[in-house]
Order: sequence, then C-alpha cells, then structure tokens
Amino acid sequence: MTILKIGICGWGNVATGLFEQLTANNHISSQWQVTCIGARRDNPRCDPGSVKILRDIFAVPDEEIDVLIELIGGVDTAKALIIKALNAKKHVITANKAVIFEHGEELLKIAKNNDVRLLFESAVCAGTPTIKMLSNDLSANVISKVAGMLNGTTNFILSNMEEGELFETVLAEAKAEGYAEPDPTLDINGTDAAHKIGILAALIFNSGLPATNFHIEGIENISPDDFLYADEFGLTIKHLAVACKNDLGIELRSHPVMIKKESSLAGLKGVRNGIQFDTDLIGSFHVAGSGAGRESTASGLISDLVALSKSSESLPMQYPDFSKKPDVIDFNELSFKYYVYLEVKDQPGVLATISKVFGDHGISLEKVIQKDQLKNGYVPVVIITDNIVEKEMQIVMSDFLDQDVVSEAKIIRIEDL
Ligand code: HSE
Repeated sequence: MTILKIGICGWGNVATGLFEQLTANNHISSQWQVTCIGARRDNPRCDPGSVKILRDIFAVPDEEIDVLIELIGGVDTAKALIIKALNAKKHVITANKAVIFEHGEELLKIAKNNDVRLLFESAVCAGTPTIKMLSNDLSANVISKVAGMLNGTTNFILSNMEEGELFETVLAEAKAEGYAEPDPTLDINGTDAAHKIGILAALIFNSGLPATNFHIEGIENISPDDFLYADEFGLTIKHLAVACKNDLGIELRSHPVMIKKESSLAGLKGVRNGIQFDTDLIGSFHVAGSGAGRESTASGLISDLVALSKSSESLPMQYPDFSKKPDVIDFNELSFKYYVYLEVKDQPGVLATISKVFGDHGISLEKVIQKDQLKNGYVPVVIITDNIVEKEMQIVMSDFLDQDVVSEAKIIRIEDL
C-alpha cells in the first residue's frame, strides 16, 4: 500500500482533532504521514512534534505531498488554496461545505482536468457516512427524496430547548463543544444545513453547485412554548433540510418543521444528524450519527484518506454531471399543513374572526386550541391547518396581522415523514 503524504491547512479545532487521530498509535496510522502543516499561528491545544510548520498556507501545495487537507474554512481563500493544490496535481480533502456549495462545480471540473480527486465526506454530517455511501452502497437506487437534520448545532439547541433549556445557554454550550461554526449565525439561520442539502442534491439530482431558488429559514423564532403546544398534537420541532424530485422539478428547502414524535428523526437528540433517503429498491433508508465536532469530523476526513489510498484506478465517489440541470420548484407553489401560533385579544368573537380569515381563503382547520391568558393580557391560539399552498398561507398571515385583535402571528410547517 502506498503511504499518502499529507499537508494539513488550518490548525484550529478540526485540524488538531484530525492530527490527533492521524498520529494516534492505532490500526490506521501506518497508511499515511503528515508531512507539513500550514498554520498562521500555533495552537496551544496541540503539539505538532517534528512536523514542518509553514506560516504561509499557500506554500503547502508546493511541498512534496500527495494530498492537501483544507481545514481553514470560509470561502474565498479556501477556494484559491484548493485550486492551487488541484492545479499542482495534489488530491484535496475538505470539510468545508460552504466552499463546496458555492464553487463545487468549478472545483470538481478542475480536479477532473488535473486527474486528481476532490473529496468532501465530512462536509455533510461530519463523520456520519453520507457522500461516499451515495455513490457506493446506494448506487443501484433511484432516490426520490432526502430529508434530514443536517446541522448538529441546531439539533443540539432544539432538543435541549425541548427539555426546558434556554436558547442562549445551549448555544453557548454548542460553541464551547466546537459544534457551532466560527460565525454561529450560519448554523442558526439555516444556511449551513442549506449548504449540506445543496451538496446532496447536486450529487443525487444534479441540481448544480451552487443551487438556486433555495428557501432558507432558521430557528431564531422558535420559542420554548412551541414545543409544549407541538407536544399536544403529538409533534416535535426539528430543523429539516429537504431535497426531493417530482415531475415538475426539484424542491430545495432548509427550515424548521414540526414532525410526528414517533418518526425516526424525531428521536435523534443533541448533536446527532439524521437523514432519511426515500429510494425505489430499499424503501426508506436512515443514517444517523454525530454531525459536528472534532472527533466526528476527523472520522469523515479519515474515511476520505482511506478511500484515496485504495483508489489508484477507480473514483471513490461519482462526480456529478452538471449538464441538464432540473428546474427548482418555486417554494411559494409548495403545499404544507401548518402549525399557526396567534396571540389575540381576550375578548368575545375573536375565534370567529380567526375562523373567518381561514374560511375566506377556503382553508379547513384540523385542530384549534385556545390557551390560558399570557402576562401581556393576550391569549395564545394554536391551530393545525389542512394542506395549503405556501403563497396562500403568506396572504393569510398578512391578513391576520391586519386584524387589530391579533398581536402576533407565526407559522411552522408540518412535514410528513
Ligand atoms: N456547525 C456545523 C454543525 C458543523 O453544527 O453541524 C458541522 O458541519
């Protein structure tokens, strides 16, 4: 077996976690050698021993290495570094979902032209096997839908909020554990999960990188009470990223949803990611595992190294064919059942006003529950609707906010998994 010479770029939480695993005296460490590390500064958390340190990360591709592992994060500098390495005929492994989402199409073409590999298993679900599994174990299947919790930080926050913890406290914990991005806004606002489902959609549905017409929403407006109300309907709240295909095109979305408590994804708590693939040959197929953190990401990166060491001839993953991209269906044309939360004045006739707004739009309601008065004197009313087209629901919401008896109105879509 050839020994792979590795250059690591970046020396933060993920890179030092990888280095520790690579240099550990275990069953895998004989297949490679870390030749150099591109690090702008030392990291007190990890001693690189005698490995050569380069302060200029762009000097790493010039070293005698077989593979560059890009762990600097961000988009523009990472893209330039990856291009330099690929053009220098070095394989590249990256955990950087943002750069693959934004520039993957171009980068994969450059890799192909240079007859080297660009691998990014840990860009989606960190160490939980996803990307290589698609082109290997699932290759005989036609996949019609992929839906999953693809962001460990938001699942960590939501599942702890469900247990009564406060958003800010749990976010601080997610940062301390190294789950959150350096800028956690990307986790919270749904962008990180969108990058990941965008990558999966490109591999499965050929939707291109970057994909367009994405609906992206975060968890900023989820409150602890939403979990209590969801529970009364047998539902819980998750942040879900979805890509699916039908005759009209593909759907691409990343937003909070309510799902049945007994569904397999609902049971995944903490930093776990979980994906359901709907396939033609094996039906619904699930993967679940840790989706963030230094050990989990190291696992995904090392799986790419193993794939590289075994693949002198064959590709460890299928490169997408970016010709003939399918249309992305306008999110406003999609149809959902909705959880609707309203805060209304505590006065006679309010429920009749609410029912009239729905009735005027021809929308049937499945369930309506009125709760006890809040401290502000208003009363929460929670409703589960029948199926409605999104654009119609948006008009209903603005009609509610026009009523002087309604002080607050929000929705969470219900996903049938
Ligand atoms: N911040 C990301 C998450 C890290 O929480 O899922 C793994 O991609």
